[in-house]
Amino acid sequence: VEQRNQIISDSIRGIPDFPKPGILFWDVTTLLLNPQAFQLTIDAMVERYRDQKVDVVAGFEARGLIFGAPLALALGVPFVPLRKPGKLPGETISESYDTEYSTDKIEMHTGAINAGQRVVLVDDLIATGGTLRAGINLMGKVGAEVVESACIIELPALKGRAKLGDTKLFVLIEKEGE
Ligand code: PRP
Ligand code: MG
Repeated sequence: VEQRNQIISDSIRGIPDFPKPGILFWDVTTLLLNPQAFQLTIDAMVERYRDQKVDVVAGFEARGLIFGAPLALALGVPFVPLRKPGKLPGETISESYDTEYSTDKIEMHTGAINAGQRVVLVDDLIATGGTLRAGINLMGKVGAEVVESACIIELPALKGRAKLGDTKLFVLIEKEGE
């Protein structure tokens, strides 16, 4: 596991001063360029959730879609995109949140996730925890149960984990960032 996570960590590059000065941006496009690292990432999540009676995987736009969809396929369960406002064509339910850089909102199609379903929330990275918190709140609105939130990267310095309350967080690696 240590070696696996090291390969994943080494495949992610840090870009200073993006999207604004002082922010070190952890760029997973280099992980996606590396099929071994990408496969190890999905395998780690499949291994984690295979026996947890997961009903649905939900992924956050943008990068949570990339990792959530192959996880859902591997588990043989539905995938639900949690999208930025105005992108979904059907009736939606939404939740607002604060990010590292702005205030934003996520939307989900009404009826995509039902009361009592066991959901894994997927994103690339947890910073302040605002995004995942909004996802957890949204699942609460529809009466779904969050099995766990899963990210590739945690920035422990931002203490986002504290925002998640009782719900569990699974991460593969940690990186610096404030
Ligand atoms: C980034 C990242 C996470 C979120 C984490 O996405 O991909 O989704 O920030 O930050 P938080 O824990 O402080 O909420 P961003 O909102 O920049 O949008 P994108 O994924 O669409 O690029
Ligand atoms: Mg994001």
